[in-house]
Amino acid sequence: MESTRKQLIELLSEQQGHISGQALSQSLDISRTAVWKHMKELERDGYEIEAVQRKGYKIVSFPNKVSENTLQWGLNTDWLGHNLHHYAEVASTQEVVHQLAKQGKPHGTVVIADQQVQGKGRMSRNWDSPKGKGIWMSILLRPELLPYQAPQLTLLTATVLAEVIADQSSITPYIKWPNDLLVHHKKVSGILTEMQAEQDQIQYVVLGIGINVNQDTADIPEGLQHKATSLRIESQQEWSIQQTIQRILRQFERTYDQFIQNGFSEVKPKWEEYGYKIGEKVTISTMKKSWQATLVGIEPDGALLARDEMGNVEKLYSAEIHW
Ligand code: BTN
Repeated sequence: MESTRKQLIELLSEQQGHISGQALSQSLDISRTAVWKHMKELERDGYEIEAVQRKGYKIVSFPNKVSENTLQWGLNTDWLGHNLHHYAEVASTQEVVHQLAKQGKPHGTVVIADQQVQGKGRMSRNWDSPKGKGIWMSILLRPELLPYQAPQLTLLTATVLAEVIADQSSITPYIKWPNDLLVHHKKVSGILTEMQAEQDQIQYVVLGIGINVNQDTADIPEGLQHKATSLRIESQQEWSIQQTIQRILRQFERTYDQFIQNGFSEVKPKWEEYGYKIGEKVTISTMKKSWQATLVGIEPDGALLARDEMGNVEKLYSAEIHW
């Protein structure tokens, strides 16, 4: 955020009562006209400002609106989202981040859109991204990891999303391997990790997060209603998209930093805590066979561990699971 504006919001927020235009102009070393212009901009961003003659200005309420400013205000991160781009509409935030990555934008760049008209899901599926109803966000990472470790970032992200959702509501989310978030057996969120890499080095990762937040049932395409849901439908409350994004970014940064420092060992038990049907029996099919197994957990490389009826544990990288 432009720093004068940030300081202005800080000054206004510290104050219980009003603060005069004169005091603001002195503290910020800008003219009173400039102060007034900033106030108008804040109002355009949804801040409710009370201006009283001879007393000055006061913030009455903060906006519950998604914009670069409102997202960055109060975003308590060290590096994630300091370079943040918000768009009303894009084809896909993934594509925008790929372009930014090629322009050399830094690790931690975040792109958020109110709407995606060509949202991408895994396996070339479409991702329905209606306007203002969800979190459609992609993060640019330049991790010093080997390409085989990239799936760990997806698993890590799923645990972050599960934790943020569980912390903010009475909802219990589950992570369906590898990375779908389910609530009451329906999908509420998906993660798409795309990577540009050489044989032994990751150039960059684009981590795409889609969360159905404030859709009503009628907002979910009819053909998906049996398997997709939203946080609002499940919690019967409206969610603040802006605050939820901020919480995700904060929690992601914390978890990511720990992961880079200590490895995957701290992420694994958290993933397993939220893992869907961990400890339960499912039917697994591969090209060769179909069998009953109990899901045991995950491996650091992202493989799913399943124990068959003879007690043999198998590592699965791709299989059809009949949940
Ligand atoms: C899936 O479950 O299939 C993954 C869905 C990922 C959707 C997100 S929304 C933000 C980002 N931009 C996209 O086009 N896709 C990802």
